[in-house]
Amino acid sequence: MPTIDLFTPIQLGSIALANRIVMAPLTRNRAAAGNVPQAMNMEYYQQRASAGLIVSEGSQISASAVGYPATPGIHSAEQIAGWKKVTDAVHAHYGRIVLQLWHCGRISHPSLLPNEALPVAPSAIQPNGQAFTYQGLQPFVTPRELATDELPGIVEDYRRAARNALAAGFDGVEIHAANGYLLDQFLRDGSNRRSDDYGGSAENRSRLLLEVTAAVVGSIGPGRVGVRLSPINAFNDMSDSAPQQTFDHVAAALNQFGLAYLHVMETNFDTSAAPSTFDFKQLRKHFKGPYIANGGYDKASANAALKAGDADLVAFGVPFIANPDLVARLAKDAPLNPPDPATFYGGDEKGYTDYPFLA
Ligand code: PHB
Repeated sequence: MPTIDLFTPIQLGSIALANRIVMAPLTRNRAAAGNVPQAMNMEYYQQRASAGLIVSEGSQISASAVGYPATPGIHSAEQIAGWKKVTDAVHAHYGRIVLQLWHCGRISHPSLLPNEALPVAPSAIQPNGQAFTYQGLQPFVTPRELATDELPGIVEDYRRAARNALAAGFDGVEIHAANGYLLDQFLRDGSNRRSDDYGGSAENRSRLLLEVTAAVVGSIGPGRVGVRLSPINAFNDMSDSAPQQTFDHVAAALNQFGLAYLHVMETNFDTSAAPSTFDFKQLRKHFKGPYIANGGYDKASANAALKAGDADLVAFGVPFIANPDLVARLAKDAPLNPPDPATFYGGDEKGYTDYPFLA
């Protein structure tokens, strides 16, 4: 049997991919007024259509899910129409693209929310750090604890957003349960101190994610749904007292759905933290479907992970910001453009759609 590498096609649920190079979701803060995708967003994604799969930047499932300026939503007719231009352009270039469904929970600020409401969260615990607002950085506030009887409404927002994503032409959705946003705030015990059925044990802390996944799968089918986790990422003031137990449980519980994939951010954005003892190979074994690994991989380490069976696909983030033709560059072992961090978040075409392709 020929060796599997980054250039081996793969079927991900209902989605056929030309290669195993995934463009990771990347927040770029360049949506137009009303959080509507615009022409430069279409250009940016179209330039990167040679990825086996593009996972879009996080896209808010409701107006209450917003956490940053100028991030695109998937809850208004204008947003759906804006995204449709993006997905049409990617498909015209034979690409595949799923939408990342995002609710920021406590990682938000009243100035970003309808009626200047408090952000919502599993528990009223103020995260350390500062929110990005239209008025600059401001301290995070203490969020409002969601009542148990509000959770079906959140699940319904995910279901509607998934339908909207298919209406916008996406090949599927990725449920963002990573990096300290709402679903991850429920999963980890540093941010979840609830005493109802959604807090306490790993089983209870997983309940909201599983209900959301069931609703989305019930609405658009399991072959078009992935889930993203980040067991050791401390970003957004996250912690868990037993991450291996928590996330082994989550990965195993997700098997009931027959999902298109599990996508795991395997690193900690806080590079000064003590090295983690988390065993990602063990996590991978708990999940029976396709596994996308993400976090600091290069061509050699990605191919080694595929060969060893530790991953089925590998996602690249920053390299895709700076290299629209990353797939061709990896294939040819061509040098990569260096990224410009000053233009990662917000701004215009500079540092967004002007990175050069190979000659
Ligand atoms: C970010 O804005 O830095 C960001 C957003 C979403 C993520 C991770 C990081 O999942």
